[in-house]
Amino acid sequence: MRKPASRFCEGVSEQLWVRRTLRALLASSLELLVGPLSGGASAEPKFTVDDSSFKCMQDMTPVRHFYVDNLLGGLKETVAVAQAGKGDYPEGSVLQLMPNEVMIKQAKGFNPATRDWEFFYIDVSPEGSKIYKRGFADVNNRLGLNCFTCHVKARPEFDFVCETDHGCDPIPVTRAMFGALQRADPRCKNQPPMSAEDQEALKQLGEIVKALTSKTN
Ligand code: HEC
Repeated sequence: MRKPASRFCEGVSEQLWVRRTLRALLASSLELLVGPLSGGASAEPKFTVDDSSFKCMQDMTPVRHFYVDNLLGGLKETVAVAQAGKGDYPEGSVLQLMPNEVMIKQAKGFNPATRDWEFFYIDVSPEGSKIYKRGFADVNNRLGLNCFTCHVKARPEFDFVCETDHGCDPIPVTRAMFGALQRADPRCKNQPPMSAEDQEALKQLGEIVKALTSKTN
């Protein structure tokens, strides 16, 4: 007859074995789905996003009217998809049209519903960036409208990127207004004085935002 202590040990090691086997099975089936997992079976993200991940928009790479970056060093691949105007963005991709709103592509499988995009609403000032809200289906813009609800309407080949004709609900912001917001990003150093056109565009945007927020309040 075994002593209770050793039976206990056996139980524990059996549990460990089951856990390890399950983990190995899970890792290999994930590998089948998404290719080799670098860093072994751990689900650790390859990069973390915090306040320091964001920068002055003018230091990002412009493609048409928006800006891109890649937090994993894969800028060339990100720019290639942006320039092609369709296709799946690689992990680490950062997209911005306005200083406060950011989409970042997390690792494959992170959130299938958003095709692994994480949405951010950030506060920007000369001191830098501060994440105000981040997440998947539950982040709203400053008008209280949900990022995911709009961007999910982009047709599948566009990987959640709306531009003007990909199927998303339009936003009442003109190219002149985006341009002015991009040039006025307070995080950028040595800003030249704002042009009269940009001042006018921001004034009009301010009026639109005021009208829209007073309607919803
Ligand atoms: C009312 C719908 C709507 C909401 C809400 C919305 N967006 Fe967009 N977004 C758009 C449209 C439409 C464009 C394209 C505008 C253009 O190119 O003129 C766009 C553009 C963008 C772009 C540039 C790439 C692209 O898709 O064209 C990013 C990045 C982005 N939005 C992030 C966000 C984030 C982050 C939020 C939430 C904080 C958000 N958006 C909320 C509709 C929306």
